[in-house]
Amino acid sequence: MNKSELKKIVKKIFLKHGLNSNHSEISSNYIIKAELVGAQSHGLARLKMYCDRIKKKLINPNPKIKIKKISQSISLVDANNSIGFVGADLGVKRAILNAKKTGIGIVAIKNSGHYGLSSFYAEQAVKKNLTILCFTNAPPAIAPYGAKKSLFGTNPICFGTPSGSKIPFILDTSVSKINRGKIRLAAKQNNKIPPGVALDKFGKPTTNAKKALEGVQLPISGFRGSGLAWMVDILSGVFTGGNHGGKVKDPFDDLSGPQNIGHLFIVMKSNLFVGNSYNKRIKNNIRRIKKLPKIKGVKEILFPGQRKYMRYKNNLRKSIMIPQNILEDLKKLKSY
Ligand SMILES: NC(=O)c1ccc[n+]([C@@H]2O[C@H](COP(=O)([O-])OP(=O)(O)OC[C@H]3O[C@@H](n4cnc5c(N)ncnc54)[C@H](O)[C@@H]3O)[C@@H](O)[C@H]2O)c1
Repeated sequence: MNKSELKKIVKKIFLKHGLNSNHSEISSNYIIKAELVGAQSHGLARLKMYCDRIKKKLINPNPKIKIKKISQSISLVDANNSIGFVGADLGVKRAILNAKKTGIGIVAIKNSGHYGLSSFYAEQAVKKNLTILCFTNAPPAIAPYGAKKSLFGTNPICFGTPSGSKIPFILDTSVSKINRGKIRLAAKQNNKIPPGVALDKFGKPTTNAKKALEGVQLPISGFRGSGLAWMVDILSGVFTGGNHGGKVKDPFDDLSGPQNIGHLFIVMKSNLFVGNSYNKRIKNNIRRIKKLPKIKGVKEILFPGQRKYMRYKNNLRKSIMIPQNILEDLKKLKSY
């Protein structure tokens, strides 16, 4: 389907479910963008989940979002359980403003929800020549190192900075071996997941997506990944006033209350310490790495975000393919 047509449909669905026009616009933009960058697990596949939560008022369709100015650089957003896209979008825009004024902008967002891909927020800062770190916590998926039970989310860590070219440098990675959305999508489509990324509920390695969802996901690099997941839980939850320590509810399976997720955005002027030479320095840095001798089968050493950018540009010209089960969801949601 054509992307503008699809965006109109998604926006209409959000409007029908009670979001105002601005919030529907923001949310539909993020969902279509996820499809365009090839992150189907964070696009249309989540629309029904967001709508189910709005219907049950677990996502507040009319949030009274409060922004507290702590200093010229620091703000706290209470998203009042808005759809995650809205609280996070407002938060990153505020962090950008603060950074432009003072050199650094730190914004914590509490009482928010699942906000999709961290890179969408990072891109906004990088477009303004800023450097950014984004953190968000997520529902239990990973067992802390040494524990039998999952508690940490796939808690993505995202870093963005200008690359000296039009392609932003954006490292945006879950701390699990694969992100949970990919496992959910595989479960929905009856596909297998790669070996070595999850255990079933009995602690046995599995490639069955449904069994993996009942069991635990494995962190990147053992205790190091577990430590990073913990750090993100502290920064996003303990630090911001959001839920933490395994209390973030699963958006699909737990309809017993709002998620109260926390996000943290730290935005800095890229030229803070090196003035106008930042551009030259980053270009030089990337050039040196790209020039290294390559292993067999690798044509180019890519920097993080490069492939996603190319995919996005390519997909802009194509129509969006929608699997049958998601088409059926769309049909039902349209007639709600
Ligand atoms: N909101 C949430 O709760 C939540 C939770 C988990 C993940 N996510 C999102 O899911 C998305 C996907 O996460 P993921 O862990 O599957 O990402 P991924 O494994 O696809 O990519 C991780 C990073 O590696 C980079 N990369 C990939 N191939 C590369 C290559 N050949 N050379 C150099 N760099 C390369 C990518 O640009 C990206 O920055 C992220 O955008 C993340 O924010 C969201």
